[in-house]
Amino acid sequence: MERIVIVSNRVPSGSSDAAAGGLAVALKAALGEREGIWFGWDGKIGKNTSRSAQVKRSGALTFATLSLSKPEFRGYYEEFSNRALWPVFHGRLDLCRPDGGSFQTYKDVNLRFARALTELLQKDDRIWVQDYHLIPLGRALRRLGVDGPLGFFLHIPFPQAESLAALPSLKELLADLCAYDLVGFQTQACAENFRDAVARTLGGCLQSDGSLTVGDQVVNVGAFPVGLDTRAFAEMAASPEVIRRSRKLRDAMGEGNWICGVDRLDYIKGIAERLRAFENLLQQAPELRGRLSLIQVAAPSRESVTEYRAMRDQLDSLSGRINGRFGTFDWTPVHYLNRTFSQKPLAALYRASRIGLVTPLRDGMNLVAKEFIAAQDPEDPGVLVLSRFAGAAEELSDALLVNPFDQAAMVEAIKTALAMPLKERQQRWRRMFERIEQNTAESWRNGFLEALEAAWEDRGEARAERAA
Ligand code: G6P
Repeated sequence: MERIVIVSNRVPSGSSDAAAGGLAVALKAALGEREGIWFGWDGKIGKNTSRSAQVKRSGALTFATLSLSKPEFRGYYEEFSNRALWPVFHGRLDLCRPDGGSFQTYKDVNLRFARALTELLQKDDRIWVQDYHLIPLGRALRRLGVDGPLGFFLHIPFPQAESLAALPSLKELLADLCAYDLVGFQTQACAENFRDAVARTLGGCLQSDGSLTVGDQVVNVGAFPVGLDTRAFAEMAASPEVIRRSRKLRDAMGEGNWICGVDRLDYIKGIAERLRAFENLLQQAPELRGRLSLIQVAAPSRESVTEYRAMRDQLDSLSGRINGRFGTFDWTPVHYLNRTFSQKPLAALYRASRIGLVTPLRDGMNLVAKEFIAAQDPEDPGVLVLSRFAGAAEELSDALLVNPFDQAAMVEAIKTALAMPLKERQQRWRRMFERIEQNTAESWRNGFLEALEAAWEDRGEARAERAA
């Protein structure tokens, strides 16, 4: 079997499983035992920005990483990736504030990555580039003479053409994406938005099979919703250690119930809106005071970026206000934890909670929603309240779907979840569990790589025709 070469900005260090959900967790599960290279940034900022990657083997996998210099970190990561692409792709045009030179630095880093990667490549490698930090990488590899199958997967949403227009250098970025053989998205809606943007902006022609032709370039497009290693997660959540932890947590609540929210601290996650909805609920339903608490985990993220620091201050004060307003000597309404937790305590939290509140304002997929389902006790499952603007809503339609901007609807959804009879909880949970049992990290990987293979073969025919 050919080697798979994953390229992502973030490469996990060692075996730690700190983060909940997210790209690194999905990729780790997707790689499984397969032989391959995982190439990207080592997470360090320093002077040692050597041309060649540091290589470390771990079983069948080779980790190859590079450091970023301070100006690279600023221009490529903080500014262009996280203050231009991230807000625009999530519909927050008001937060798109890249500084002038950052697009050039973004391209330079991509070129540097491409050069270092070519030193490690073998002839039949399948190269699979991940996420918004690395859009230009494919075209840079092609220019350096790499002619094997090249795929790209976007983990975050791809917005409609009107929103995209806020992006500096949009044409160049779309042309970069069209240099891949296959571009994959989390949802059908995002794939459609991409087709539309390429048709409008680059004059691309949509073919009957859903692929696009731009000049003599053909790019296949598809939706590949990312999944979990569901079985492994469910087994971990049903292990004696996790069950013990979750019972302890439930006992601490007595007759009452826990609601949980688990996110990276990010303005797209709707954490402030969620806290406000919880506050409104306590205001409207005094009988719930003392009987319902929200545990909100907000793992620190991108703390050097201004908007994230402002968000942290906002959440500190909001959670403090709710506790100051409603708390009693023996009851704390909001347990706000601005820390990172590993998977076992999170699984125990999911299992102990009557409600999982996953209400981002916009999200590519949101694997926390799937982890919440995977962790439940089948006999007494909790209820997932899920934002209709999370990619996961396309698959998990048996959740209580809410509009996270609508406070009244959020309050109603929590009330409905609390009142939901056991039978209905079990039925909804079973259907969602079946879905995530089918669509796993492994099937996501296989689906994408098979489509990449097919795209590559199509290109072969086109190349031969051109040559004839
Ligand atoms: C999202 C992105 C990933 C990113 C992760 C953590 O899930 O899609 O590409 O790695 O957030 O963010 P960070 O900036 O810490 O890598």
